[in-house]
Amino acid sequence: MSMSKSRVESRESRAGRRALFCLLPSAFCLLFIGCGVRSDMQDQPRYDAYEKSEFFSDNRASRNIPEGTVARGHLKENKALHTGKIDNPNANLQVETATDATGNTLVSSFPNDIDEFPVPVTMELVNRGQDRYNIYCIVCHGPVGNGDGMIVRRGFPQPPTYHDDRLRNAPVGHFFDVMTNGWGKMNSYADKLSAVDRWAVVAYIRTLQISQNPSGTTAMNANTAANTMPPVGTSNSNTSGGAR
Ligand code: HEC
Repeated sequence: MSMSKSRVESRESRAGRRALFCLLPSAFCLLFIGCGVRSDMQDQPRYDAYEKSEFFSDNRASRNIPEGTVARGHLKENKALHTGKIDNPNANLQVETATDATGNTLVSSFPNDIDEFPVPVTMELVNRGQDRYNIYCIVCHGPVGNGDGMIVRRGFPQPPTYHDDRLRNAPVGHFFDVMTNGWGKMNSYADKLSAVDRWAVVAYIRTLQISQNPSGTTAMNANTAANTMPPVGTSNSNTSGGAR
């Protein structure tokens, strides 16, 4: 039993050695041929970006992107979610702004801004909003949104408080718009906060507004707000007319 096994093994190893003997020279040959005759992969028959081309009538190799092309992950079909706006339902209504004594831009009409959260307002969303607010907004707007953040105390222009009637009554889309596009002296935060994160911050700002005006009329107006948010009082504190 053991003898026959070793015989088999030795026959196999002999065959292996013979194969190696044949293969090695041919590998060397291939190596030399490979070095001598280049199969020019470096000169591939393809265009580089912006290269000239005789093939197209405008002599440009780079073609225009077909109309309607959307980059992967950039299909922003849900306009409300990504802009906080809807197509102006009252086309004759214009955005009205005024500049106050400190140079801040005050807006008092919001014809395009949505006033319902396009995402469900849950406790997680509000917590996420608090987390993002404390990273990105607190430095100027202060812990509760009075506009007394540390940077402002060191000299940056003071933002308006969130706790006047104008911003209490402003639709949620306005806050989203401010973060998305910037506002007057304030930068856009769209590169730092995803759309959902921006809605989370809006939900947290609404929470701050309610916290500073517990009996006021600020409404969350959210799909699920009624179940998840603290109760909103019904007494009216907005008789002063709103605009500053
Ligand atoms: C570097 C300071 C700074 C930071 C950080 C900052 N803001 Fe502002 N914000 C301002 C200033 C200044 C204004 C007033 C701008 C003006 O009217 O010209 C303002 C205005 C606003 C307004 C009021 C717009 C109106 O209608 O009057 C809102 C809402 C707002 N910011 C939200 C935010 C949110 C949310 C964040 C965090 C994502 C944030 N801001 C971060 C400085 C800042």
